[in-house]
Amino acid sequence: MKYNEAMNFDDPFFRKIFFEVHSGLPREGPGDEPSLRRALGLVSGLPPRPVVLDVGCGPGLQTLDLARLTGGAVFGLDNHEPFLQDLRRRAEAAGLSRRVQALKADMNRLPFPPGSFDLIWSEGAAYSMGFADALRSWREFLRRGGWLAVTEAVWLKPGAPEPVRRCWEEYPDLKDIPAVLDQVAACGYDIAGHFTLPDEAWWTHYYRPMEKRLAALREKYASDPTALDLLADHQREIDVYRRYSEYYGYEFIVCRRR
Ligand SMILES: C[S@@+](CC[C@H](N)C(=O)[O-])C[C@H]1O[C@@H](n2cnc3c(N)ncnc32)[C@H](O)[C@@H]1O
Repeated sequence: MKYNEAMNFDDPFFRKIFFEVHSGLPREGPGDEPSLRRALGLVSGLPPRPVVLDVGCGPGLQTLDLARLTGGAVFGLDNHEPFLQDLRRRAEAAGLSRRVQALKADMNRLPFPPGSFDLIWSEGAAYSMGFADALRSWREFLRRGGWLAVTEAVWLKPGAPEPVRRCWEEYPDLKDIPAVLDQVAACGYDIAGHFTLPDEAWWTHYYRPMEKRLAALREKYASDPTALDLLADHQREIDVYRRYSEYYGYEFIVCRRR
């Protein structure tokens, strides 16, 4: 499920069901450690203990991977406190709490001085403030020559069938890969490399655990048609990906502040 302004988070029931589906999942979007390693492999010349910001970190599985793999100090930033609590718990359990800081803030107004970071990371979150707006506004928080690694949803091929287009209605700005790369370059970055997240990155930590959760919630809310409708929206998103994943995906883009 893609978080966006149009979602009815003001409706307490929508909010309750949404977070019953989403709380306690390993991740809040597609991604996995092999893909993170591959993206990090495109970054060069980081200092031995880089300062890293993970924007829209959610429960922070990748935040911990970043701390382990870079050896640096990593800030996980999100505006949803329960996700940050998950991250704090996980960092503690992994013995990483001295190097990982969970910070509640709005990605539209990063609370740091310019030039604070060697690396800004953001998986599946930049779109929520508009991909290009995010890239432009985060740029000043990188030191000169600092790195940005982001994932962004893309069309992988034209001619998506109706169920796919309906699923992405809430994100009408979805582009193909060349158009997204053009946007990155226009925002003042040199692209070091990019690749499409593999199928497993959608299933392992995201859709498979979410499907299990949905099955349990369908039982819990068996006599509540409103709840069942909301759960069906989530299930539809998963089913569409299962059937039509050749049409869309997430592109990991690694680039450097020009
Ligand atoms: C699709 S989830 C991705 C989470 C995580 N990066 C992952 O891959 O598992 C997007 C995240 O962005 C966060 N978010 C959305 N709008 C935000 C904002 N304005 N400021 C900070 N975080 C925000 C959400 O709370 C959510 O955790």
